[in-house]
Amino acid sequence: MQPLQFKLANQGVTIFSTMTALAQRLKAINLSQGFPDFAAPDALIEALCDATRSGYNQYAPGDGWLPLREQVAALFLSRDQLLIDPVHEITITPGATIGIFAAIQAVVQAGDEVIVFDPSYDSYAPAVRVAGGIPVHIALKAPNFAVDWSEVKAAIRPHTRMIIVNTP
Ligand SMILES: Cc1ncc(COP(=O)(O)O)c(C=O)c1O
Repeated sequence: MQPLQFKLANQGVTIFSTMTALAQRLKAINLSQGFPDFAAPDALIEALCDATRSGYNQYAPGDGWLPLREQVAALFLSRDQLLIDPVHEITITPGATIGIFAAIQAVVQAGDEVIVFDPSYDSYAPAVRVAGGIPVHIALKAPNFAVDWSEVKAAIRPHTRMIIVNTP
């Protein structure tokens, strides 16, 4: 029998685990991870209780509850003037990390290259490697950390499948 092969054998722990453990040990303010330092609003807690008591405790559709997708589309329209079709262009995921992971698994094939800009969110490269892809890192440089598009152009090769852009 073949020994088990792990896809992320050399991954180690995430920077979040490292920084959070350090912050706890040194009693420092933890700026590395989005832990809210305030309580959830009462109205939200009440709404969650009401929804649960009203029977909203079942699986949602795989692509998300349509009224929520419609609200997301309405928000994009009013905030960003972007017309997005809630049926075909919006999917609800339990957080960004899993959404990014799912998008990468859906698109990246073995041997594909994916360009990521460093410093990058540290789930990008492992998600690419799980898909059998190859992360291609481009370092953003101080002082303004702007993308050097000539560097991007030079990094695009026949196997480039995706460029991950993270912008507010
Ligand atoms: C750039 C970036 N993307 C995604 C996430 C995680 O998002 P979520 O908690 O929704 O998975 C973080 C968390 O810090 C982040 O910094």
